[in-house]
This record gives sequence, C-alpha cells and structure tokens, in this order.
Amino acid sequence: MKTDPSKIRKQTILQFFLLCSLYTFSQSFRISETSCEHLYNPIGIDVSHPRLSWKIASDRRGFEQSAYQIKVSSEGEEVWNTGKVLSNNSLYLKYEGPKLESRKRYYWQVKVWNRENKVSRWSEKAFWEMGLLSKNDWSARWITSTIEEDTSMAEPPIMYRKTFELKKKVKRARAYVTSRGLYEASLNGEKIGDQLFTPGWTSYNNRLQYQTYDITDQLVQGTNVTGAILGDGWYRGNLLWEHKRNFYGKTLALLMELYIEYEDGSIAVVGTDNSWKTAVGPIRSSDIYNGEVYDARLENQALSTKNLDGPGWKGTIEMSGVKADIVGSMGVPVRVTETIKPVATIKTPKGEIVVDMGQNMVGSIRLKVKGAKGTRITLNHAEVLDKDGNFYTDNLRSAKQEVVYTLKGEGMEIYEPKFTFMGFRYVSIKGWTGDIPEDMITGLVIHSDYKSTGTFETSNPDLNQLQKNIEWGQRGNFLDVPTDCPQRDERLGWTGDAQVFARTAAYNGNVAAFFLKWLKDLALDQRENGAVPWVLPDVINNGRASAGWGDAAVIIPWDLYQIYGDIGFLEEQYKSMKAWIGYIRTVSGSDNLWNEGTHFGDWLFYSLSNDTSGKSAVTDKHLIAQCFYIYSTSLVLKTAKVLKKETDVADLTKLLATIKNAFLQEYLTPNGSLVSNTQTAYVLALHFDILPENLRRQAADRLVQGIKDYDNHITTGFLGTPYINLVLSRFGHHKEAYELLLQDTYPSWLYPVKMGATTIWERWDGIRTDGTFQDVGMNSFNHYAYGAIGDWMYGTIAGINADETSVGYKRSIIRPRPGGGLSYAKASYETVYGQIKVDWELKEGMFDLSVIIPSNTKATVFLPGAKMNTVMEGGKGLSKSKGISDIKEEGTNVSMTVKSGTYHFNYIYAQ
Ligand code: BGC
Repeated sequence: MKTDPSKIRKQTILQFFLLCSLYTFSQSFRISETSCEHLYNPIGIDVSHPRLSWKIASDRRGFEQSAYQIKVSSEGEEVWNTGKVLSNNSLYLKYEGPKLESRKRYYWQVKVWNRENKVSRWSEKAFWEMGLLSKNDWSARWITSTIEEDTSMAEPPIMYRKTFELKKKVKRARAYVTSRGLYEASLNGEKIGDQLFTPGWTSYNNRLQYQTYDITDQLVQGTNVTGAILGDGWYRGNLLWEHKRNFYGKTLALLMELYIEYEDGSIAVVGTDNSWKTAVGPIRSSDIYNGEVYDARLENQALSTKNLDGPGWKGTIEMSGVKADIVGSMGVPVRVTETIKPVATIKTPKGEIVVDMGQNMVGSIRLKVKGAKGTRITLNHAEVLDKDGNFYTDNLRSAKQEVVYTLKGEGMEIYEPKFTFMGFRYVSIKGWTGDIPEDMITGLVIHSDYKSTGTFETSNPDLNQLQKNIEWGQRGNFLDVPTDCPQRDERLGWTGDAQVFARTAAYNGNVAAFFLKWLKDLALDQRENGAVPWVLPDVINNGRASAGWGDAAVIIPWDLYQIYGDIGFLEEQYKSMKAWIGYIRTVSGSDNLWNEGTHFGDWLFYSLSNDTSGKSAVTDKHLIAQCFYIYSTSLVLKTAKVLKKETDVADLTKLLATIKNAFLQEYLTPNGSLVSNTQTAYVLALHFDILPENLRRQAADRLVQGIKDYDNHITTGFLGTPYINLVLSRFGHHKEAYELLLQDTYPSWLYPVKMGATTIWERWDGIRTDGTFQDVGMNSFNHYAYGAIGDWMYGTIAGINADETSVGYKRSIIRPRPGGGLSYAKASYETVYGQIKVDWELKEGMFDLSVIIPSNTKATVFLPGAKMNTVMEGGKGLSKSKGISDIKEEGTNVSMTVKSGTYHFNYIYAQ
C-alpha cells in the first residue's frame, strides 16, 4: 500500500511538535540544587548513612513532587537505586544502600515526578566522598617536634616536613590532616586547600576534626615535599581575659596522611612518623588575640625547600595517648570570602598613620610592600577612632591585635598572617616612612563560609544599614564557632549570644551545618548534671550555668528544626536538651522556682549609673530564669512529641503546668502586673505564653506603656531584645513596633547607625552622644546579640515566616506588614526547598505585592489592608487565579493558600 508523501510529511511534523511539547513539558521542572548533610559535594565525611536533599525549580505554579528516584554509583558501578518511591519528601533522605567504604567517592542523582506523573530529567551528578571511617584506616602516627619550647609564652610555630619520591603517574590523591593546635598544610610549596583555622575549634579533649583535601594536581612525578606548620591557636594559645595558656595541653602535634593512588592501581601512603623533620621558621610568634610576628629574612628555612636536612631541622617523636575521637569535618569551612580596599589614609591628631577600611571587619591584612631588608613594619588593628580622631585600642583589653613584619628586602613582598584574626576597621602603620600605595594594604574578610540565603531592602536607608550591620556582625562572629565578639580577649562561643541571634542568622545564611557542629560540642562539654557551660567549647570551665545562656541547648535545636525541617537537630540533641531541663529541675527547690545560681539576667539592659531616678530597666534575674525554665520546658515537650517519647511527654506536661503556676504565684500581682515592671519582663512572659489568656492583652498594654515611659525607646538587654517587636506585633501593637525600630536616639537600634556604625554594637551606647566611649572594660563594636531584630525584620516587614505546623518552610506564612512610613520592602530567603521572595510597594494608595513560593511547598499568604473584591492577581480577580484557594477576608486582611509559583497581587490599600 502506498502512502501519500504529503501525509507522511504532516505526520512527521506532528510527531516533531509532539516530541517538542513533551520535551518542553519535561523541561518545566528540574532539580536545581542537591546537597548531602547540609553540605555541597562534601569530601571526607564519616556518617554511615548520609542524608540527601534536593530543590526543584519549576516554571509553573503548583508543582508538587509525587515520587522520586535516587541512584548512587561508585567507581562506575551502581551501588544503590531506590526505584520510584511514592513520596513528596525531598529532604534528608537516608542512603540505605550497602555499607559505605572509607575514601570512596559516591556519585548520586535524583529524578522526581509531579502530580501528573511526569518525570524530570536526572539531576546533575553530585557526590559525597567518605573519609576515614575507622581508626585502622589511618596509617599515619601522631608526631610532635623534638624542639624544646617554653610554653609559658608564644613560641615560633614549628614547621613539619617530609620529602618523598613518586615514581609513577598519579590517578588520585588525598590528604587527611588534623592537629593539636592550628595547622596549615602544604605540598610542594603551595598551601593545601583554601581553608583557614583548621582543624577548627571543637571540644578538643573529646573530638578533633580532620580535613580531607584533593591533592591530585599538586603532586609531581619525582621529589615532592609536604608538611604543615602548627600554630598555638585555641589549643594552647592565649584564651580568656585571664591569659590562660595551654588550656588543652602544652604539646602541639600533627597527624597527616597522603593517600596516593597510582594509575596502575597501586597505592602509596605518606604519613606522619618519626622520619619527619621539624624547624622553626619565619613566623616568630602567633596568637589568636595578639597577632603575629614574621621575619621574612628567615624564609630560607621554608617548608617547601626540597633539600631536606638543612641546618636547624630537628627530629620528631611519635606520640601515643591522643584519646580524642578523630572525626570528619562536617561544619562550614573558614575562608577568605572577600577582599576590601581601604577607603582612606589618615594622619591622626597624634600623628599616627592610619588606614581606614571603611567597614568594621574581621580577618587580617594582606601586606604588599617593597623596601629595605630589615625594615620592621607594625600594624595595629582597631575598631574605632576616639572622639578626637586618634587610634583607639583600649576596648581590646589585653588583646594586642598586632602584626609585625620584617622585610627581607628582595623585591615585592607579600605577607598574610596565618593563625590570628583581628576585629578592626582601622589599621595603624608604624615603621614605614614611604608612601602607602593603594595595593599595600588589603583587608581579608575571614569567616565560616556559609552560603548566603537572605536579602533584605526597604525604602529606609537607615534600616538597610542596620541590616548590613547585622550581616557584618554575623560574618565577623561566625568563625568556626559562634562568638560574642572578634576583637578583645574573649572571642568565645558564648551560648546566650548565639541563642538570641540564631534565628536571624538563619535568615542571612545557611547555618545548619555550622550549628550542627557546634551543638555536638555543646553536648560533649555539657556537665554530667546537665549544666550547659557559659561558653562552648568550654574554656571557662567553672561548672556554672545561667538562664538564657544554657537554654541555647534547647532553643537553637528547636529553632533550627523549624527552619531546616531536619529532625536530626532534635534526634541528635534530645539527650542534651532533656539534660538541661533536668539540671534546672535539680537546682530549683521544692517551690519549683529557679531562683539560685549565677545569672547574667537581661544582660546590658538600659541602665543609668548611680541611678536615683529608678529609670534603669532592671528585671529580676530569677523572674527571667523562671521564664526560660518554662520556655525551654515547653520546647523540650514539643520535641518529645515530635520524637514520640510518650513518657517524657507526660512528665514534661506536668512539669510545665507546675512551673508556670509557680511563676504566676511568685511574680504576678493580683492586679495582673509583673513584679518587675520592665519591658523585658512583659516581653518574656508574653512571648513564652506564660500568662493566662485573659491577662495577656493587659500585659501587652503594660508593655506599650513601658515603652512610652521611656519616650518610645527600647530598654531591653540581650534577652528581651529578640522578642520585643514580635510581641508588639502579635498583640496588635504593630505601629509601636515600627516606632521602636525606627527610633534613632539612644537607646535604639538606629542610634548606632546614626553614629556611623558598620556593625552591631555590644551596648546600645558604645559611643555616647558626646563621642566618649562606654565602659572600657566591655565595649565591643561587633557583637551580634542586638542584631536579633533581624528576625522581626524578615518575618514582619517582609513577612517571610516558617509555619510551625509544617516545618522547614514546607508550608510558609507570607505576611508582610507595612508601616513606619516605608514605601517598599523586598526580601528573599533561600529555604531548604528553594527561594521565597517577597516584594511589596505602597504607592498612591495601591498595594503591589509579588511573591515567589518554592516548588513542592505551599504558603498561607496574608494581604494586608485588603478587601477581597478589590484584589487582583496577575490582572484577574482572586477566585479566577490558578494556584489560589481557601480565600478568606478577616477585617482588613485577606488570606489564602497558594501553591508554589510566582504571584502578583495588586489592590487598593485600606488601612
Ligand atoms: C560577652 C557576652 C556574654 C557575657 C556574659 C561577655 O563578656 O562578651 O556577650 O554573653 O559576657 O554575660
């Protein structure tokens, strides 16, 4: 039978279009990001069942995943394939294939189906690589130098090195490295990897992290030289204001193994042992607080010299008895994330030559200089100039923050300190009489390199500066552990500070892995009686625990569970969370009141010296303690419910009722006021749902009165500040919340902004209006705690919130609340499902709102000041809009459920 050729052509064209549309359809959604244990293509992890997550991008509304399939392969062979699994879950899917092997790299891909059973393409290949799962995988030995040291002071860091021959072609090579003290490892004269402050700060007596590096390209055929230089770091350098040295021990040590696979399949291992050599080199001293002294004239001793046994190279000895667990590093690496050029060079009234970086930053200076041999340049670092414009370092207390560099005088010299960091905006230069060319000083911004997840902008430039200050405060103080400050002789993992700031931090960056790491150390350093130390890792070691500080053990895991939807936070920490409640329970007497112990209270609240007016906003410390006892108990109760710990649920339910009751008996007057009539007292009692329903409104009114009493100023300290605006907004005092936020005279968030701050200050009045400084004993200009207002800014101004009933933003609540004269706000937040975007503008009586909701999630959207019949979405009436359901009008709010996708609302704004 003959077919009409034109018919065939038509058919072919039809088929082509069909294929094209099928193709286009399959392109309408795809896997846009994959991660493993909150990390991206990690190498050297040592979890036996890594958990895999993905994000889906779709250009259509209402994408819902109905199924997924994961496949995993290693060395070209498939090792696990889930087949098609009916599930809408895209987070933390556990690898359940055959046992994972040390050192192996596993590649994985995922594809997903939508509700119409259409499938995406496979995601791009991602991987994770296993570290060393068992102690026996290490053939390297711990070594230390035979060079004698006086450990009562900072001695020159010691270089360790080894030369070795490679005769064959290398296919793949890894370095596994850890140390007591900080290390910088190198191979053939180049630093290995780009991480700084390795192996990180952990509870060193319990666990030490090792890092894994791909060194394949750094090896050469023939002679190679490898090694590391060790700095005192947190292990034995100065810690605390008491100048404690050798906190973890006196002996620094190195454990390093190069594992080399040749192309012919054979293996070579170069591990630390007593054949390694050691010498001191150009770094003369190095200390986290005090800085570094470097003499470039001594560089001929350098680590990279291939000719080994030069003069001064001494032996090493192998060490036994390192008891700490050696674990794969799964936090967020510290790196240089940005370089900054100075904005000005100043000659101060005192005649100091000072370079202004334009930003209070954390890190160090790269010095680039050409000059005569022996010239000694001293760089000092300060956060501020005093009121006369002179260089000011008194607030650093004993931390020297000083870098001394002696030139070798051979052409252009470039130097970056290794084992120290400074908190500074200004750098004074001494010992240099030449010009200061533009590239002589470069600021290296150093911190844990978390992925940035948030953007926030409004029509108010001061607020935008506040947001910038919050971000910089976070960058400067997330340096492997969450620290209080980066400049004076502290820089410690203060629990209270971390607790109040964690939610804000999570808007600005993906801090899941960062906190998971720190919480592990929290649990390890927690006392047997459940007491949570003031700082973690615990180097204060006094056994004391305080309200609002120790509660970090509970509040942070709970908050992060909400934000990331990762039940691992709760599973891992539950024991520690429960132990904390157990501790409070033991120290509370039979009256069930936590009214003993050392408490910081509402740290740094508004207070006047020699106060005779009674205006200082003092909140009873034990009232605060009871509030936190209640709050933490309520969160552990919620956790017990999530984890289905039935006995604990029953026990904690009872406890919660008892301790709430004890609070009401002790701290509430018959007329419904609290015994401390402060903003913080009402804020805590309301935010933690302590007061009976019928007294809450009244208490909120008292709070408002308490703000008016101070002429619309905030008087809270560290503990009240994070919640004050949340409480005001929750109880209908939204206008007052904005007024408080936009207040710009002391005490307020914007006062420091008006004073030119580029970070968040420790105190509301670090610099007074007359330019003088607050108490020199404690006056940091980079302390993130008051930056906790960021949580309200994202959650209320932009309106981006997680819905507690459906964690990880599986369902979000988008509820922007305009006010404070703002004409627009735009913010975005990268959730674990993808990006939420909110962009609103109020113009000529019209409200415009664009919202993006990530695939595989839903949101409840509230339209402020809206009447249902005036709202248009994408040019249509609401009921005609695709993806929108459950539309309700309540007062001046219209709310609805929206599926994933992009929406544009527009309506007449009714106030
Ligand atoms: C730190 C704080 C910390 C506090 C305890 C200070 O020295 O810098 O931020 O929370 O001590 O009260």
